[in-house]
Amino acid sequence: APAKPRVPEGTPAKHPMSIRKRPRRNRRSPVLREMVQETTLTAANFILPLFVHEGSESIPISSMPGVSRLGVDTGLLDAVGEAVKVGVKSVVLFPKTPDELKTATGEEAFNPNGLAQRAIRNVKRAFPEVVVYTDVALDPYNTLGHDGIVRSDGVILNDETINYLCKQAVSQAEAGADFVSPSDMMDGRVGALRDALDAAGFTDVGIMSYSAKYNSAFYGPFREALDSAPAGLEGWTVPSDKATYQQSPANYREALLEAALDEEEGADIMMVKPGLPYLDVIKGLSDQSNLPIAAYHVSGEYAMLKAAALNGWVDEKRAVLEALMCIRRAGASVILTYYAVQAAKWLQLNREFDSAAAMAAI
Ligand code: PBG
Repeated sequence: APAKPRVPEGTPAKHPMSIRKRPRRNRRSPVLREMVQETTLTAANFILPLFVHEGSESIPISSMPGVSRLGVDTGLLDAVGEAVKVGVKSVVLFPKTPDELKTATGEEAFNPNGLAQRAIRNVKRAFPEVVVYTDVALDPYNTLGHDGIVRSDGVILNDETINYLCKQAVSQAEAGADFVSPSDMMDGRVGALRDALDAAGFTDVGIMSYSAKYNSAFYGPFREALDSAPAGLEGWTVPSDKATYQQSPANYREALLEAALDEEEGADIMMVKPGLPYLDVIKGLSDQSNLPIAAYHVSGEYAMLKAAALNGWVDEKRAVLEALMCIRRAGASVILTYYAVQAAKWLQLNREFDSAAAMAAI
């Protein structure tokens, strides 16, 4: 017979409290906890961001331990293959444009044989079932590191930029992209991209819009990865941040406005970025709209977790799965995360599609 449970010496005599409601009843056992679990986390929720460059070697990104710039012909395909093996079948591609191809306005963005376009073709050829997302913005392609075209007095030109973004999106669709993802925050771009894609015959290519993209310090490591930070130019006034187009971290209602416009203009998925500091915005968008909501767990969020984990300050597996679960709980069905493959492996190890058990076992 099992030993009778004992209480420590000195435990006060039992005085049952007169409470009828005891929420702990539903947490008593793993089966119960799993039964009442409200949110789940699986590999199907993830989109893996990948950085590509010309050349064949993988170049580690120092502020993102475990993440590298991959060669467009081999490293990229190896990484997608590894992701597919653990159930991550969606990727978003970010090219590092060679300096000599950058111009003040970023025409390389719509070169049919550009790095982004070749990366898309390579992935779709090797893995036709993988869903490929692209980034639509000019910052990796222009010398000034801004998402839009910069005038000499520092104004980021909205409508002129959109003209280029449309060409960029159509060239990505021609290369085989399933979704284009405007991250530029120009006004009116979703509607313009929808029209341009439709006019070119790409009615099935979707738009995952960065609807609420904040002017955030958490993009730092990404800009290192692509060498795409805003840069100065002799005789020009180049803004050192993106505050005239990305939203202020102080604002919530503005995100609802941006989302309403994107939805009206034809977005298929709406994204909030960054992720964890903006859970209220994720919740707000998912309450306001019936479109699927995505969240970008960005480079700086990855870097923070990684740094703490490497120092032994947090349990990486638990902290990462908790962060991703919380993003789901706030209302995002889709999570873009550099942890996608690692998280999928952890979830698989702990019994796939059973995140209660996964969380309990770690
Ligand atoms: C480019 C773009 C950025 C990110 C995604 N697309 C950087 C920026 O806006 O400066 C950031 C992603 C990350 O930090 O992981 N427009």
